[in-house]
Amino acid sequence: MSLKLGTTAPDFEAETTEGPIKFHEWAGDRWVLFFSHPADYTPVCTTELGFVATLKDDLAKRGCKALALSVDPIDSHKGWVKDIEETQGVTMNFPIVADPDAKVAELYGMIHPEENAKLTVRSVFFIDPNKKVRATLTYPPATGRNFFELLRVLDGLQLTDSHSVATPANWEDGGDVVIVPSITDPKVIADKFPKGHKELKPYLRITPQPNK
Ligand code: BEZ
Repeated sequence: MSLKLGTTAPDFEAETTEGPIKFHEWAGDRWVLFFSHPADYTPVCTTELGFVATLKDDLAKRGCKALALSVDPIDSHKGWVKDIEETQGVTMNFPIVADPDAKVAELYGMIHPEENAKLTVRSVFFIDPNKKVRATLTYPPATGRNFFELLRVLDGLQLTDSHSVATPANWEDGGDVVIVPSITDPKVIADKFPKGHKELKPYLRITPQPNK
């Protein structure tokens, strides 16, 4: 059973490539991009984890920490990290959770038995500083994720938390957004959106991204 949006991300204790963690304590006041991969020493996962290492500054800028997981033991993770660094030209800079008994994977619904009874699929959990699950994505083992899309989702979550807007199709940071339908008072709209807006329909009001 997958976690529902708005619920508290389960806390857990686990061994990781950067030492033992208590998840909530480790997350602190940051956002967390928590993602599972099927297995160590596999090609797609190697490219994914290597790429996430290149996003260190992009994630830090967004107040977000990355955390990976598979049901492999810690020695396997540690050996594989050397391969990731060698083949992807990176230094690993975020922890990989060792979950050999699949305790955390079960807690987060990362194992989809119809896909594979033993391995985690490519699950992604966006967890906010209040430890709430704010968005999830699930990809099958053979489809590598687009991590720019994950940054885009993070940008959207952070923007819509701080302004009364929603992000339209294919929005990217800096693009026009829509005013949330619950705001109907013209004075409130004028106050909140001093750059103006275009009303295509009463429910479809486009405005420049307020924080740009
Ligand atoms: C991979 O990470 O390369 C992979 C894992 C499971 C199935 C297919 C590919």
